[in-house]
Amino acid sequence: MVNKIKTCVFISGNGSNLKSIIKSSRDCSFPIRIELIISNNIKAKGINFAKKFSIPYKFFSSKNKIQFERNCLFEIKKRKIKFLCLAGFKVILSKNFIRTFGQKIINIHPSLLPKYKGLNTHRRVLESNEKYSGCTVHFVTPALDSGKIILQKKVLINNNETENSLKKKILMQEHKLYPQSIISVFR
Ligand code: GAR
Repeated sequence: MVNKIKTCVFISGNGSNLKSIIKSSRDCSFPIRIELIISNNIKAKGINFAKKFSIPYKFFSSKNKIQFERNCLFEIKKRKIKFLCLAGFKVILSKNFIRTFGQKIINIHPSLLPKYKGLNTHRRVLESNEKYSGCTVHFVTPALDSGKIILQKKVLINNNETENSLKKKILMQEHKLYPQSIISVFR
């Protein structure tokens, strides 16, 4: 595919989803190319993947969210980026940012949305004695974790499941679901 969609990935932490998107994007038939990685956390381990795969990256503090979003929009516009993927990104983007960017933004969340929006997902799922959990890739709208669902994957919760084991189990599925969802967005 010649005309890959110029994409920016936003991260705040380990970047394991970023890694899976980078790996998929190296396939010539994958619809996007990552042209920029933005982190709001200078210590995010995910930045190492930017370095390893020689992808441009930027750190912008999100302490002042208005300034953060201004910085991001400047870089995104400069690089003619047309698609944003949020991958473990812990800032809620404002309505103004979403409207100004004006193109598709997608996010991954570690639950079967619309259940368990927000933080501490796995703990809340276990406390509610759910039989299943999973992960969801969805479009980003101003309402938290509420945009249209692209794809979802369900996992079974074992009797002896812990927050950590559930997190690991779901992350393994996330790494497959995110690239599949990107393909599905541009099919
Ligand atoms: C993932 O489990 C992702 O679903 C979650 O953060 C983790 C990031 O892992 N995202 C959210 O909770 C967003 N509400 P990663 O940095 O290794 O990709």
